[in-house]
Amino acid sequence: MNTTRRSVLAGGAAAALAATLPGGASAQPALIRKPIPSSGEMIPIVGLGTARRYENAQAADMDPLRDTIRRFAELGGTGIDTSPTYGTAERTMGTLISELGVRDKLFLCTKVAVDNKEQGVAQIEQCFRNLRTDKIDLIAVHNLRDTANGLATLRDLKAAGRIRYYGMTTSFDRQYEEFEAVMRREQMDSIQIDYALDNRNAADRIIPLAKDRGMAVFLNLPFGRGSVFRATQGKPLPDWATEIDCTTWAQFMLKYVVSHDAVTAAMPGMAQAQYVDDNLKAAQGRLPDAAMRRRMERFIDGL
Ligand SMILES: NC(=O)c1ccc[n+]([C@@H]2O[C@H](COP(=O)([O-])OP(=O)(O)OC[C@H]3O[C@@H](n4cnc5c(N)ncnc54)[C@H](OP(=O)(O)O)[C@@H]3O)[C@@H](O)[C@H]2O)c1
Repeated sequence: MNTTRRSVLAGGAAAALAATLPGGASAQPALIRKPIPSSGEMIPIVGLGTARRYENAQAADMDPLRDTIRRFAELGGTGIDTSPTYGTAERTMGTLISELGVRDKLFLCTKVAVDNKEQGVAQIEQCFRNLRTDKIDLIAVHNLRDTANGLATLRDLKAAGRIRYYGMTTSFDRQYEEFEAVMRREQMDSIQIDYALDNRNAADRIIPLAKDRGMAVFLNLPFGRGSVFRATQGKPLPDWATEIDCTTWAQFMLKYVVSHDAVTAAMPGMAQAQYVDDNLKAAQGRLPDAAMRRRMERFIDGL
């Protein structure tokens, strides 16, 4: 079977995962979705991260950030990742969501990152206030901080119906061993981990384990905080990128990570509407199959 045919098959599978836009809108092609294993709920495979660019937003930053979130929601994006550890990002997001009236379209993810149970409960209550919502879709224990207490609190909040899912995150290789041990002994809906075309260590054990344990996998740092753009700067996309419907490096990098069968969604940091247009195209068209994924790895490793 030639590469084009394989890619088309992969695209067919992707199309089978696709859902229509909310309200059946047809102006934009639907985004590819994948299921959260614990519920079967389908969510778009590309979301939006809020570290750094949303952390210290001043009045002059609000218009471009509002345009970014408006465009994201218009195109059918739902997953937004934020954290009380990202400066004022949560509060900024709460303001933008309420101004735009898009809360019901979004899948809001935030984190808990403190040192004991009481602080955790207080921090989470502040998350609800910051985000101006009475229901948060997902809260995760951040970077293994006070993990056992955090997961217990989140489990109770889910049972009380105040959050819909809970999990934990890391973006550090040095935490992988402990992260894996917690994944084996605790029940949770999701993990969030760093995975990019030039940073594939999470695919060795953690991501396959999440699949075995029925946990959704959200990705942070899908562009390696921009390292993939620095590596490819000034270089043309390979001709064969058209076989997976990529016209930019951002789409190339995102299509690689979201095509891992156990990955649910990537959360690239984006604070410009033009990045939203670019990155959400990675949730459309053909996705790479296994052979194409190997080809993409060889390509990046050869740079
Ligand atoms: N442990 C954790 O829980 C954890 C840790 C780290 C991150 N996270 C989450 O993961 C998210 C993603 O991480 P990140 O934002 O640090 O890094 P990233 O997504 O790997 O990269 C973001 C960078 O990519 C650039 N970019 C985005 N779209 C682009 C496009 N279409 N074309 C060109 N450049 C583009 C941005 O440019 P500009 O510089 O121009 O904005 C930014 O510099 C965070 O926002 C956060 O929500 C979680």
